[in-house]
Amino acid sequence: MKNILITGGAGFIGSHLVRHWVKTYPDTMVVNLDKLTYAGNLENLKDIEKMPNYVFEKGDIVDSELITALFEKYHFDGVIHLAAESHVDRSISNPMEFIRTNIVGTVTLLNAARAAWNGNFEGKRFYHVSTDEVYGSLGDEGYFTETTRYDPRSPYSASKASSDHLVRAYHHTYGLPVVISNCSNNYGGFQFPEKLIPLVINNIRHRKPLPVYGKGLNVRDWLYVGDHVQAIDLIYHQGQNGETYNVGGHNEKQNIEIVKLLCRLVDRKLGRSEGESESLITYVQDRAGHDLRYAIDSHKLATTLGWQPSVTFEQGITLTVDWYLSNEEWLRNVTSGDYLKYYEKQYGDRL
Ligand code: NAD
Ligand code: DAU
Repeated sequence: MKNILITGGAGFIGSHLVRHWVKTYPDTMVVNLDKLTYAGNLENLKDIEKMPNYVFEKGDIVDSELITALFEKYHFDGVIHLAAESHVDRSISNPMEFIRTNIVGTVTLLNAARAAWNGNFEGKRFYHVSTDEVYGSLGDEGYFTETTRYDPRSPYSASKASSDHLVRAYHHTYGLPVVISNCSNNYGGFQFPEKLIPLVINNIRHRKPLPVYGKGLNVRDWLYVGDHVQAIDLIYHQGQNGETYNVGGHNEKQNIEIVKLLCRLVDRKLGRSEGESESLITYVQDRAGHDLRYAIDSHKLATTLGWQPSVTFEQGITLTVDWYLSNEEWLRNVTSGDYLKYYEKQYGDRL
């Protein structure tokens, strides 16, 4: 039996990845290490929590004693590292938590892997899951490739860029067998409703204002989360050590297009007159340093490993709207308590 460590497995992408791995690889013991911050939720994994090849460990990736002990206990063959503070707006109001988890946490994992594997890297792999935001912001044209110069512009993206550099440094300096992927915006079920798509669906449902930053003209490249999980699986098994792979949806949309589309879809599902909820759209003060456009060139992944997104945006967004509308209780649970305080602080004087 192989043992794999997935960090951040109780979060949005992590929970989809853990579910996929547990079901697809019954001969691999999947150890999910998660601190269960506001963004981590074991509810996300209820359907697989009793599977014999799944185990949950609660803990902080910055805790080096714990990480070392986990390597001793499970003799991991591989690590897929997703644990992070992931929300740009939170990084603007509280950067230190991002430095701690995203940078110090990543180095802590690298150190533990290096010590445990001790130069014997046969069959070992350290996979770092990163973001397209490390490349900065595009104008109206062009795409991010794997060789685009790093130019992070928010505390979040700077912390992720820093962690990418450290992962590469451990490969070059110590020979650690690493791969990195930099992915565009994911969407799908189980995403915390501080992020644009679930936040807007939830607000439409409750007839609350829909906050659109600036003029709503910023562009993101949306990828269905299941396609990101497929890419991670492929890169983990077939990627080359030391390489970086860009993952994107070939699906650029302005924020305002997304918000209007969600109004139409949700109104239709709820039996409201179509587009009725557009009256809830509220333009608010822009995000500080708001990156204009992200767009990924994922040719390398397509040509070297044969990956393509399999879910069209129309399919994915319909699945996503359906998921949030039929998981009202999940939304209620995660939007109570601390989230209400965050929401008030983030949007209170803007809406
Ligand atoms: P998320 O915020 O939904 O989940 C993060 C998880 O990490 C949570 O379960 C949280 O409890 C856990 N965590 C946070 N700090 C921790 C710590 N110190 N120790 C242990 N666990 C901790 O994030 P997500 O959107 O699922 O993103 C996962 C990863 O993918 C991140 O590294 C992010 O940078 C990257 N990424 C996300 C996207 C996206 O669109 N969401 C796109 C590209 C890359
Ligand atoms: O590109 C990958 C990144 O995508 C990931 O690395 C991040 O972890 C993930 O959070 C996401 O970052 P964004 O900042 O692009 O996602 P967010 O959902 O926060 O915002 C998407 C766009 O919508 C962005 O241009 C800001 C805008 N927005 C967001 C919110 C929350 C609004 O207009 N109103 C809002 O209320």
